[in-house]
Amino acid sequence: MKISIKNILNKKRLGQKITMLTAYDYPLAVLIDRAGINMILVGDSLANVVLGLDSTQKVGMAEMLHHAKAARRGVKRALLIADMPYRSYANEKLAVKNAKRFIREAGCDGVKLEWFDNCGKIAKAIVKSGIPVMGHVGLTPQTAKAFKVQGVTAEGAKRIAENAEVLEKAGCFSIVIECVPDKVAKLITKTLKIPTIGIGAGGDCDGQVLVIHDILGLTDGFHPRFIKQYVNSCNIILKAARRYRFDVVKKKFPSSKNIFHIKDDEFKKFQILLGLSRLNTIPVSLRAMNHHGSWGG
Ligand code: KIV
Repeated sequence: MKISIKNILNKKRLGQKITMLTAYDYPLAVLIDRAGINMILVGDSLANVVLGLDSTQKVGMAEMLHHAKAARRGVKRALLIADMPYRSYANEKLAVKNAKRFIREAGCDGVKLEWFDNCGKIAKAIVKSGIPVMGHVGLTPQTAKAFKVQGVTAEGAKRIAENAEVLEKAGCFSIVIECVPDKVAKLITKTLKIPTIGIGAGGDCDGQVLVIHDILGLTDGFHPRFIKQYVNSCNIILKAARRYRFDVVKKKFPSSKNIFHIKDDEFKKFQILLGLSRLNTIPVSLRAMNHHGSWGG
């Protein structure tokens, strides 16, 4: 059954946890969808984990649409949400135009916006155009100066709660809360009618989201403490690539199991077609080459 916005809202009402993971391409979207995850986010973390860039500010509409389309082809059940990239929602007109592109061109079910001063108005305009919007408060990587926990002072926590409220009032159907103390996220979750999806915000949010490359162990370097790595794919991939390299160098691959055959008479005809005699199958040009594979003097 295809997950709807209503299903996501009902989950909060019923006290059922909501699951969300990122995906940026077809094969991972297929598997995450098959695993029964409720929502798939084509996050702008694409910049860091897929494109090797150092900031989410460095991806634009072209990259996000390209990857959203790929993920779409793999998703049958989950709700597919795309992150609106930095500056793509700077004003209401631009935001509505770009949000529509994610729905019409990439087939997404909704878009996500990171909090900034004018975010309420922007979210409202997109919702008004009929597109479901997910908000994002707390640590907002598109504009954050540093990767650090937000809402650790009473005033800071209040600001995050107010931002979340503005987004709820604007008509958002859910809100990501990133990198906020668990008690703060719990209280915000209690006060909102719409579901909160936490990342580094404790276990009391209505749902959880993580970056797929982090849970697969496909990222090296800095790992914030809120990540849980379920498998070390780096080791698995390194091992496979090294074994392949060894097999090719040692002529163990391809083996007889991996090759295709041609019937003898067809092969003879082929040699004749190339102008080679049956007995002497080596082209004259290659005969000068010695058995070491270098050209004889
Ligand atoms: O871009 C992203 O992956 C995100 C999630 C971490 C919520 O915004």
